Amino acid sequence: MRLTDEEKRMFDGEFGEATQYSMEILVRLGDMYGADHLVEIQSAHLTGGYPEFLATVELTESFINKKGRARVVTTVNPMHQPMNFNRWPNLQEPPEYLQRAQRMINAIERIGAIPTCSCIPYFQGNLPRFGQNVAWIESSAISFANSVLGARANRLTPGIDKAAAITGRIPCFGFLLDENRKGNALVRLEYVPKNLTDYGTIGYIIGKYLGDKVPVIEGLPNHTTTNQLKALGAAAAGRGAVALYHSVGLTPEARTRKQAFGSVKPEAEIKIGPKEIADALGEINTAKDEHFDAILLGCPHPHIEEIRDLASLLAGKRVKLSAKFLIFISADVLALARHLGYAHIIEETGAEFVERDCILFFHIKHWGWKTAMTDSAKYANLLPSEPTCLDVIYKDTASCVAAATI
Ligand code: F3S
Repeated sequence: MRLTDEEKRMFDGEFGEATQYSMEILVRLGDMYGADHLVEIQSAHLTGGYPEFLATVELTESFINKKGRARVVTTVNPMHQPMNFNRWPNLQEPPEYLQRAQRMINAIERIGAIPTCSCIPYFQGNLPRFGQNVAWIESSAISFANSVLGARANRLTPGIDKAAAITGRIPCFGFLLDENRKGNALVRLEYVPKNLTDYGTIGYIIGKYLGDKVPVIEGLPNHTTTNQLKALGAAAAGRGAVALYHSVGLTPEARTRKQAFGSVKPEAEIKIGPKEIADALGEINTAKDEHFDAILLGCPHPHIEEIRDLASLLAGKRVKLSAKFLIFISADVLALARHLGYAHIIEETGAEFVERDCILFFHIKHWGWKTAMTDSAKYANLLPSEPTCLDVIYKDTASCVAAATI
């Protein structure tokens, strides 16, 4: 691995123990992936961690014990929050979770990260420009950075994110290289998506069939919004491992089909029409009947526009007592929703916001819930597995609201 003079000094310990430890990690990672140099990063986005896994807390603390501090703009993914613990008296969590969650929050803040605690860092001031390199955790955010922004990111594991934040460097491999960013699979869309959930379903199908390829989508409407691309990318990254997709005419590296593929010939081609959508819905919905214990919205965390739309769907209704209606959300969007009155409309119905958190961090496996309803293809794909183990009813937001309210 070629290192600059400054990087050699970092590696030799001149910048302190945490930087040296981080450089050792990054050089080893680079060697594994055949990178011949490091590149500077614009920003980092750190994993928040599951209180169930003590190792994640201890790994983060290992950087703090060596006095590690972030050198670049650094944000953090959702984390289990003390304010969200034991908020429902009959659905409590192991006491050691609170202690671990608090340790994690302390460590993240001491590392110098901005405690955004959200999976949409690009809406929270961590916004790389086209072509800039970043070291981010969170598959949906990585997809957004690569695909929608044209920034450059690889899927990283916990530990690498902190090492990158502390050094401001990452090994140059994978999607940081021009040659790996061209499309290698074609998606012909023969279905007009109508709402966020449709975009999520399309992403689910792409992830299922194309795994970690770089899909080029033809046929998304020109009026597709940034939030719809967010939903599509999150589902493709969650169902498969799609870290970069192009949409011809919409995303910055695919103004044309020729630009998206360059000289690469597609290795695979799929068509998505009404039949493929119907088949996917049949597969995603695992519930045997219409009964559900919770409605779970906010995956990825919503933009204020999504909250405005939800408020207009919920206005004047009442959530049935038989289910919890939970909306996972970032603190800044919730503050704006309160300012604009949307939060009041939503909370009046009995729906609840769960701030800076994610359902995957709660201890719901032991809560007796069997089935959840969601409008998110990413949640729908994740909820049947550990740690939640729930059956899923997957519907668009309006249908979720209709089913949950009177
Ligand atoms: Fe965010 Fe949790 Fe979904 S971290 S993307 S709300 S699985």
